[in-house]
Amino acid sequence: MKILAIETSCDETSIALVTAREGFLTIHSHKTASQAEFHSQYGGVFPAMAKREHVKACVPLLASVFTEADFGEAELLRKNSPGEAQLLRIREILEREPELAEALLQFAQEASFPELDMIAVTNGPGLEMALWVGINFAKALGVLLGVPVVGINHMEGHLVSPILPEEILHTEIQLKNIPENVITLLVSGGHTEIIHMQDGRHKLLGETLDDAVGEAFDKVARLMGLSYPGGPLISKLAEEAREKNIAPIDLPRPMMSTNDYNFSYSGLKTAVMYHIRKHPLETNDDKLALALGFENAAIEVLVKKTVKAIEETGASTLFLGGGVAANKHLKHMLRQASKERNFDFYEPIPSLTGDNALMIALAAYMKFQNIPIKDESPTLTAIGMLPLA
Ligand code: KG4
Ligand code: ZN
Repeated sequence: MKILAIETSCDETSIALVTAREGFLTIHSHKTASQAEFHSQYGGVFPAMAKREHVKACVPLLASVFTEADFGEAELLRKNSPGEAQLLRIREILEREPELAEALLQFAQEASFPELDMIAVTNGPGLEMALWVGINFAKALGVLLGVPVVGINHMEGHLVSPILPEEILHTEIQLKNIPENVITLLVSGGHTEIIHMQDGRHKLLGETLDDAVGEAFDKVARLMGLSYPGGPLISKLAEEAREKNIAPIDLPRPMMSTNDYNFSYSGLKTAVMYHIRKHPLETNDDKLALALGFENAAIEVLVKKTVKAIEETGASTLFLGGGVAANKHLKHMLRQASKERNFDFYEPIPSLTGDNALMIALAAYMKFQNIPIKDESPTLTAIGMLPLA
């Protein structure tokens, strides 16, 4: 099954081209253009600007994906130029992204395309303006190539990302099996969720009642005068604090002892704000102590509730996914818990923690490996708050 996957839910434009069959995956190409640096000057992601950057990035990225895939003549489709009806339809689909329509049609005149079985595109959750660019681009490509387009849930992508053991190009890789009884901890800029996967079904056990954990990292970073995205910067400071044996600032652990799987991060952020008001950050060590105190508090609650979920459901395995899966302290604590409590721990490889199209390709393969692919183009829309099915 040859899949072209497209992800534009937030501030990364990403495209992957893979062939998947019977639990094996060949990555022909996987490219991501990050807008993070562009957004860092504004301290966050503005949807209209994210949309504009995605529009600019789509076709150049697709071109570089095809170059990297390096298909031989035999694998490429000798495609006639699009007919009048196709041209009209493509312009109609990309009505709100006319620049993208022109770039795509220009590219279509020069490029040879591989034969695809489906185009998979993230249709939520995320910023709707950003999601629409990927969706419309996918639909236009679907018309151009006569290929079905399917929508994939972004969180489903994060959820399956730990099954890829390594990212190497042009080589068949064996995917890990998904065990029968799994707890997943999904942690990103928009989500903090504990999910129980059993017999192919997902059940949301708990989630944040306010801010997501990644969002809390980003907001605390802003309070500390650090740039966006703040998660990696705070965790770097916390790591330095641990190396230097700096004592952490004592901060609350909201909902640590509640008898559920829910989280709350806005109180922790407010506690940081009050701390800074009372004790302005004057020295580098002040920053290190606060970053360490915040990271310890934020991660401790995640680990405690995740372990509780594993014990109470009898799950054999823990999956970790989402941007915050890059956090070294979180991974360290979960690895330790997995040794102590005797469960397996699958974490995504570093290149799959942030937003990427490879995880969307993986999720599409998992979803359609045993069912027929049906074109969803006519009804596919961006859903900002799309829940996991
Ligand atoms: O999954 P992702 O790339 O985008 C969303 O779908 O939200 O997650 C981005 C989030 C941001 O909040 C970012 O600050 C956080 O993940 N993040 C981290 C780290 N790396 C990224 N948070 C804590 N520690 C990190 N090392
Ligand atoms: Zn994400």
